[in-house]
Amino acid sequence: MRVVFLAPSYPPEMMQYTRGLAELGHEVWGVGDTPPANLPEQVKRCLHGYLAVPRLLDEDDVQARVIAWLGGKAPDRVLSNWEPLVILAARLRAHYGLAGMSVDTVLGFRDKQLMKERVAAAGLRVPRSRRVRTTTEVWAAAEEIGYPLILKPIAGAGSADTFRCRDRAELESALASTRHVEEASCEEYIEGEEFTHDTLCVRGKPVYENVAQYLPKPIEMRSIEWVSPVIITVRDLKQKRLQPGLKLGRGVLKALGMADGFTHMEWFLTPKGEAIFGEIACRPGGAHLVDQMNYTSDIDLFREWGRVATEGRFEAKAPRKYNVGIVFKRAQGQGRITRIEGLGSWLHDAGAWAVEERLLRPGTQRRNWKNTLLSDGHVVVRHPDWDEAHRLSFAAATGIRMFAE
Ligand SMILES: Nc1ncnc2c1ncn2[C@@H]1O[C@H](COP(=O)(O)OP(=O)(O)OP(=O)(O)O)[C@@H](O)[C@H]1O
Ligand SMILES: [Mg+2]
Repeated sequence: MRVVFLAPSYPPEMMQYTRGLAELGHEVWGVGDTPPANLPEQVKRCLHGYLAVPRLLDEDDVQARVIAWLGGKAPDRVLSNWEPLVILAARLRAHYGLAGMSVDTVLGFRDKQLMKERVAAAGLRVPRSRRVRTTTEVWAAAEEIGYPLILKPIAGAGSADTFRCRDRAELESALASTRHVEEASCEEYIEGEEFTHDTLCVRGKPVYENVAQYLPKPIEMRSIEWVSPVIITVRDLKQKRLQPGLKLGRGVLKALGMADGFTHMEWFLTPKGEAIFGEIACRPGGAHLVDQMNYTSDIDLFREWGRVATEGRFEAKAPRKYNVGIVFKRAQGQGRITRIEGLGSWLHDAGAWAVEERLLRPGTQRRNWKNTLLSDGHVVVRHPDWDEAHRLSFAAATGIRMFAE
């Protein structure tokens, strides 16, 4: 098949999907903003053609350039696994009359208010919320919803500009910090634990399913620097307390008209055991979540996605063998990493259960932890037993320390 794949080399994990498509024997036509000369060799050899565009997020411009580039010859698929490009991929599919989700369907996975309305209309539990554009609308919504509440952008990512407000004063200061946000969602704050529900779907039905727990909740991961964020995939999806979340997840896919490909949903498990919808995207989770799923089942979901997205088939064996924890580290101090403490003893303790260690090396400039959950690197550990996977993950969170100057 001739497959147009948007952003084949950035973010970096996109290179893996490019590889997956190429390994299945497809002609991969990449569209990105990386100059051709800077494309990594591993991507170049997987691409049949490549179009470099000046402004990748300018949908009208990229659409016109892609159509001109392909000439009269329509592709068989237009795909993207990167959030900012999922609408553009749908627009191009509509232009060529190709299989895949429509712009309207994809919008249900992009617009946080619309998705909640569609999910609620299917009788599923979502936080009470209002779309707000002006300060007046925010105060009116707060009056209706009550405190604590969450104020967050409609098209947000990475918990940017997301605020929890316990009272009027906190809402006042959240408003002051979000003046640049054009459209926000004001919603009921849901107390509880936070999980993902990740799927690879064929015609809206999960053929691969995953749940991971955020420890702590993303809003805390993204607002408290000293925290080492931990995310653990759950091996045993049959356990009772997860059933409401799995049921919710499958219902959401139906309500939003999911077709083929990855989804990444976030949901809350309240102290009473109720599952409440958070948000969903029609692309894989970021921050190495797909690597974690691969370690969970000893599978290559990068390639299996390619098969699903082109042939609508999933045939891989996907046993759930491990709980897989990823632990992101943040150095103390600014500037360059100077030293790492506790890594040797953690690796010794974890033994063969430690499967990846990618902490930034001394001499490397620190990453901005506010911009990327990847922070100053990570370790990955897995274990068939949840408690042990949890213990080893938190041993890394507290026992490994990085310093910068
Ligand atoms: N209604 C809510 N109740 C409780 N917590 C919430 C609520 N909405 C958002 N949060 C918290 O804020 C975080 C970020 O919100 P959300 O996932 O909607 O935005 P995002 O910026 O797209 O996130 P990301 O890109 O990190 O997944 C959530 O993961 C959760 O911890
Ligand atoms: Mg989120």
